[in-house]
Amino acid sequence: MDKSLKGRDYIETQDFTLQEINQLLDVAKDLKAKFHRGEPTILLPHQTVFLLFFDNSTRTRNAFEAGATQLGADAHFLDSKVTQIAHGETAKDTGLILGSMGHGIAIRHDLILDEGNKYMREVAAATEVPVMNMQCDVDHPTQTLADIMTIREIFGDDLRGRKIAVSWAYSPSYAKPLSVPQGLITLMTRMGMDVTLAHPPEYRLMDRCMKTARENANAAGTKFEVVDNMDDAFKNADIVYPKSWGPYDLMLQRRDARSDAQMKQIEEQMLSMNARYKPWICNSERMQRARKTAIYMHCLPADRNAEVTNEVIDGPQSVVFQEAENRLHTAKAIMASTMRERPFK
Ligand code: CP
Repeated sequence: MDKSLKGRDYIETQDFTLQEINQLLDVAKDLKAKFHRGEPTILLPHQTVFLLFFDNSTRTRNAFEAGATQLGADAHFLDSKVTQIAHGETAKDTGLILGSMGHGIAIRHDLILDEGNKYMREVAAATEVPVMNMQCDVDHPTQTLADIMTIREIFGDDLRGRKIAVSWAYSPSYAKPLSVPQGLITLMTRMGMDVTLAHPPEYRLMDRCMKTARENANAAGTKFEVVDNMDDAFKNADIVYPKSWGPYDLMLQRRDARSDAQMKQIEEQMLSMNARYKPWICNSERMQRARKTAIYMHCLPADRNAEVTNEVIDGPQSVVFQEAENRLHTAKAIMASTMRERPFK
């Protein structure tokens, strides 16, 4: 296996060249084929990866836990609330300590704007082991790697001229992070696709991600446009990816909240804001605006009958379960490519 990525942090896809992303995708493809053939892939024997969560997870946690087992490594699940982080232990100290006991640190810290990515980079600066981003406020790079793997499985490696519609959708459950749409607009513009982003006015994304998406599109000769409705975004799309995220200004207010009561009040305001846009649902009529061969994607969990109807998510155009399985293969590819045995050289 190519060892050129050993020791590298995996924090944003933008930190990696296209060649390096393709290398990770090749490893994921190989690991998936071996998984389905029942072949062992003990690439990280006796190694340890710490999985540190500041938020809930089903797919990401299990992709990393099952993936570590299948690579011959152990994964330790850490809920930040029951570690000394809850008593104020710093990112630097946490990185130094976990790094001294194992071979990799993966972190999810996604709900508070301007915190998660910074935290991960502080941990990474303190340790020699690779730090892997399991979702932050800026990017969800293990998700978007699985997404591009899925898209290539369906449309092939040459995606030039394909259109992906990344759209906001209504959610009554909670204010979801911005990192999936931000990760999609920054990566897919590099991968040859034309990207259309759609959202109501209150749901803008981080300026730095919008700037990166525009620059990536210019450099790759692809298109990046922003529209204000799902119907226009879906027109002639090959891939539709409608999902919810939180209203930007209220997300900033939540970041600055000084008490649990204030935070709860802001969360209620975010759900009221979401409810203004209930018609932003992916249904069969909207799917007809996309190409006949279009696929429906979602990182999951999806709010059924709010973000998407059952007819669409359970229908023939939906690839969400293939996409979810690919989280396993890409998590394994990232761990196998970046983690290394001691002594580090
Ligand atoms: N898509 C995703 O990250 O799922 P989880 O939140 O369940 O990990």
